[in-house]
Amino acid sequence: MARLKTIEWQNNCARIIDQTLLPEKIHYLDITAIGQMYEAIKVLRVRGAPAIGVAAAFGLYLGVRDFDGGNGSDGGNGSGNDDIHTFLNHVDDRAAYLAAARPTAVNLFWAIDRMRKYAHHAAASSGSNADINNLKKNLLEEALRIFEEDKRMCRAIGEHGLELIKDKNCILTHCNAGGLATSEFGTALAPIYVGQEQGLSFRVFADETRPLLQGARITALELSEAGIPVTVICDNMAASVMSSGQVQACIVGADRIAANGDTANKIGTFGVAIMAAYHNIPFYVAAPSSTFDLSIPSGARIPIEERGREEVAVFCGAKKTVPDAAAVFNPSFDVTPSKLIAAIVTERGLIYPPYAENIAKMLA
Ligand code: MRU
Repeated sequence: MARLKTIEWQNNCARIIDQTLLPEKIHYLDITAIGQMYEAIKVLRVRGAPAIGVAAAFGLYLGVRDFDGGNGSDGGNGSGNDDIHTFLNHVDDRAAYLAAARPTAVNLFWAIDRMRKYAHHAAASSGSNADINNLKKNLLEEALRIFEEDKRMCRAIGEHGLELIKDKNCILTHCNAGGLATSEFGTALAPIYVGQEQGLSFRVFADETRPLLQGARITALELSEAGIPVTVICDNMAASVMSSGQVQACIVGADRIAANGDTANKIGTFGVAIMAAYHNIPFYVAAPSSTFDLSIPSGARIPIEERGREEVAVFCGAKKTVPDAAAVFNPSFDVTPSKLIAAIVTERGLIYPPYAENIAKMLA
């Protein structure tokens, strides 16, 4: 797993692994401009809620680092009030641009907002000494902090999540909520990696996750790289595998968790939760606190991304599988009602029902 670096800050640019090419090619892309980062997020070269947040933080810095509009409006040294004001407007403008890349993963907005507020706060607290070059430096430092915190959050999620599973358990997961969806260790897969470090062994069933196959292409790749036995199944095989008694727990990630615990995650997750309930298999969600959106009371308010027809109608971009005359519906996420979730694993600890009350307490 350590071999595959989702994202890094190197030589003044953000280096990402292009996940659209996995597992065939391990190809790293150097992102040097905000437009390039916008495109990478939109087409899922970098994906997974926490990784999108980190990518957006670096992307926003890239969008403002070459700002040169601060010369002269009130003196020309980039530190006058008007210059700072123009710079902060530019930060806000670039933030709004990047926020339009994808709608569901709240980590995107969380990271952008954190960066934006940081710039405004740093400018306000420096008063007449505020300086654009310093503000740019501050923004890069904040992006690097978000990146480092994400690594720590994943490990802590792994440690807490390990309380829910036992040595030799077989876990079913959907989509990819592993190292390649975060800065390092993943969320849903983190307990498995932490357990492995402690000498425990697990097996994993990875749903292939139509239409973009994040389970087959990405989860199966990173688990096999880490030496964890993984078996890929088509999404429609999960009920049959569960009924065979081979699965002891389901663990998935999240793109946004509402105040009542309703959870948006990759399309098909809701079905996995229903199947797990039918078979009395515990269904867990693992996510950092940056994935919670306490501004919305329930999952009904989570915006669900709809993606293009070709993702469904053309298999892996190569073979037409749907006649032109047929319509296609391609929602990228669904919402699992919190009553189907046995526990939510966060970096601060485990959250059990009743969720509205316990989420508020945990995140307070
Ligand atoms: O469309 P994607 O690949 O970005 O969707 C990813 C997921 O649904 C993940 O499960 C989720 O973001 C959690 S990642 C730790």
